[in-house]
Amino acid sequence: MSRKNYGDLKPPERLLLGAGPSNIDPRVLRALTLPIVEHLDPYFTEVMNETVELLRYAFRTNNRLALPISGSGSAGMESAVCNIIEKDDEAIVCVNGFFGERISEMVQRCGGKSIEVRSEWGKTIESELVEDSLANSNAKAVFIVHAETSTGILQPLKKISTIAHEYDALLIVDTVTSLGGCELSIDDWGIDLCFSASQKCLSCPPGLAPITANEKAINTIRSRKTKVQSWYLDLSTIEKYWSENNRAYHHTAPILLVYALREGLRILYEERLENRWARHKENIQMLVEGLEDIGLEIYTDKAHICPSIAAVKVPEGVKDEEVRRRLREEYNITISGGLGALKEKIWRIGLMGINSNRKNVVLVLEALKSALKKEGYSKSN
Ligand SMILES: Cc1ncc(COP(=O)(O)O)c(C=O)c1O
Repeated sequence: MSRKNYGDLKPPERLLLGAGPSNIDPRVLRALTLPIVEHLDPYFTEVMNETVELLRYAFRTNNRLALPISGSGSAGMESAVCNIIEKDDEAIVCVNGFFGERISEMVQRCGGKSIEVRSEWGKTIESELVEDSLANSNAKAVFIVHAETSTGILQPLKKISTIAHEYDALLIVDTVTSLGGCELSIDDWGIDLCFSASQKCLSCPPGLAPITANEKAINTIRSRKTKVQSWYLDLSTIEKYWSENNRAYHHTAPILLVYALREGLRILYEERLENRWARHKENIQMLVEGLEDIGLEIYTDKAHICPSIAAVKVPEGVKDEEVRRRLREEYNITISGGLGALKEKIWRIGLMGINSNRKNVVLVLEALKSALKKEGYSKSN
């Protein structure tokens, strides 16, 4: 039998301006090529300690528990849900997009009762609705997405935090698309448990989900009646591997991904959070203005546009996929289409981490203008 010739991998070098992953910072790429050591090697455990410190900085927290779950953002989400929710527990789940829906599904799979507080996609969740639901339930937690990547909305959290705590519920937040790009302050905002992902505003490869929990959340986990049904995502055992004084083997950490995350966090630490937030805000503003200049309509409530991703309506008569194909094939630029009900209706343009810069704004606007023209669109349409 003839042997198939498997060639070298030669992935195209695309500019990733979609919903994530973002491009990887060259410093992070270098970290991925460093020598591997064993997952309990003293060198690696020191890297782990520093990663925890840097994560506390990124999350703005003094929480003891801050670590990366091995797995993508959904593993972080699943860990948050399955550690807190036991059979028949009630939880408020705020749903104004695709990822709120996912949290609700996970709560139900854990045997919990998901009480959904909904708002139209592209709009924020009203705190009054959360309060009504809390008043009429016995909810243990409120789950909410900070930056809903499916619609480009940034959810204000402070008021909902106060309300959740008035009803003695935990506030659990998805910061997958906001950590390292949008203002976020775990302790000041009273967030009890929070998960994120490595591949968005931290400009690292996908595969790690930073998570942090305060003592109140940890006590809730400690006082469970039943064991967490997922062995792999049980925070109390993962924490033992990550805590300085313990280091009990749990699983073989993805060592190179941890090097990468540490480097991504070190870059963030050097830039400083406030500068990073300001950079993301300025560039998304420039992008939004440019999109409107082309004649496109922003999908999201403009008072709450997320600094790391903008959603814009596909104009009438233009084929979503054709425009994205042109961007990809003619300019090597990836942007994302809509998810679920928004398929073919919106484009999502992300400016995350290293990708949030003026040059990329100009590039994507010019490429989009040209692709739209070739697809027969003109501003007066
Ligand atoms: C807000 C939000 N939550 C959760 C996820 C799931 O993360 P992952 O795809 O890394 O599993 C995503 C992914 O895009 C997201 O944007």
